[in-house]
Amino acid sequence: MSTEGDGAEAAAGLATAAAAAEEAAPAEDPAPKPAPAEAAAPTLRCLLLTGFGGYDKVKLQRRPAATPAPGPGQLSLRVRACGLNFSDLFARQGLNDRLPPLPVTPGIEGAGEVVAVGEGVADRKVGDRVMVLTRWGMWQEEATVPATHTFLMPEAMTFEEASALLVNYLTAYMVLFDFGNLRPGHSVLVHMAAGGVGMAALQLCRTVENVTVFGTASASKHEVLQKNGVAHPIDYHTADYAAEIRKISPKGVDTVMDTRGGYDTAKGYGLLRPLGKVVSYGVANMLTGPKRNLVAMARTWWNQFSVTAQQLLQSNRAVCGFYLGALEEDTELLRGVVARLVALYSQGHIKPHIDSVWPFEKVADAMKQLQEKKNVGKVVLVPGPQEN
Ligand SMILES: NC(=O)c1ccc[n+]([C@@H]2O[C@H](COP(=O)([O-])OP(=O)(O)OC[C@H]3O[C@@H](n4cnc5c(N)ncnc54)[C@H](OP(=O)(O)O)[C@@H]3O)[C@@H](O)[C@H]2O)c1
Repeated sequence: MSTEGDGAEAAAGLATAAAAAEEAAPAEDPAPKPAPAEAAAPTLRCLLLTGFGGYDKVKLQRRPAATPAPGPGQLSLRVRACGLNFSDLFARQGLNDRLPPLPVTPGIEGAGEVVAVGEGVADRKVGDRVMVLTRWGMWQEEATVPATHTFLMPEAMTFEEASALLVNYLTAYMVLFDFGNLRPGHSVLVHMAAGGVGMAALQLCRTVENVTVFGTASASKHEVLQKNGVAHPIDYHTADYAAEIRKISPKGVDTVMDTRGGYDTAKGYGLLRPLGKVVSYGVANMLTGPKRNLVAMARTWWNQFSVTAQQLLQSNRAVCGFYLGALEEDTELLRGVVARLVALYSQGHIKPHIDSVWPFEKVADAMKQLQEKKNVGKVVLVPGPQEN
């Protein structure tokens, strides 16, 4: 959650680096060999979103390494691992209006070691292991972020786990407990149940007694879902999940975790028991491939659900919306939830399920893992370089 200013500065720095890199690229004549001193100058690896479109728009670059100089209230960290989120796929397609002008380093979460602290930062020191939530900029070897948007990692937590905790578990926790008011005996429909947020939600559901979970996912993932507490996995590719749920539970469910948007929100609303809630927090239906699909976007927008207060009143149901990005300045609120998550981790109740770990040079494959519906749990990027 870097401020506009921080991000713009970082983006400007990277833009210069990108321009420099482009300028330095040989056109027709091979570039002269660098002097030995230049060749030895240290550089940092960073991923850069250079345009909107397919996988090739995210490029691996190098920028000159300088002594970290965090401003007041900021800290710099050596990034050890970063999370890849569904929102990064949207960002690459130009569907995230919170990004600054390109080129920009994507990445809304990560973890690493503090290498420098700015003036006024009293509760962080060099060597601390922290996890970070930000608006962009984590997919690089070194990042400077507001200290208020960092959270100390528990000792036993790995950097990969820490890079998989914040977005997935904050979202799942707040959807299930703050909006969903999850209680013993409740039933929950978790869409995209085998994904990053989905697996987090399954673990959190198990912290409450006797919760029945319905989970949608591709059929190949159903065994893992069952092992992780899904009583009724449903393949939404081949079955009407609402009809399947009605067969098992004619009265429906208490909470629908709606990640799909469009017509699925209405379907979820139709499945609610009295006092049930649909929590809408995603529009995955908009995404059909690596490039922007205007038809899918229009269809999702056209089919979005709307309801009047009078209809809600008469039906004893609720519709909620959740967007973690819009809570970026509510640091106290987030801090409270992170403290609860860290406690749950330390007690062994939750543990990020890592699908795969990719070095920066494999970022396209990492994105495909999500886009092509292959992941079970979190996809993580590490600065690398790639091990042979
Ligand atoms: N509002 C917020 O603050 C917030 C924060 C975090 C995440 N989210 C939302 O939560 C959802 C899950 O996010 P995540 O980061 O954890 O991702 P994820 O679930 O790990 O995403 C990948 C999985 O989603 C499923 N999927 C369903 N429709 C898809 C589509 N159109 N394209 C590609 N995959 C699709 C695929 O599995 P199956 O087909 O097997 O299900 C795929 O393996 C997303 O909708 C995301 O936007 C919202």
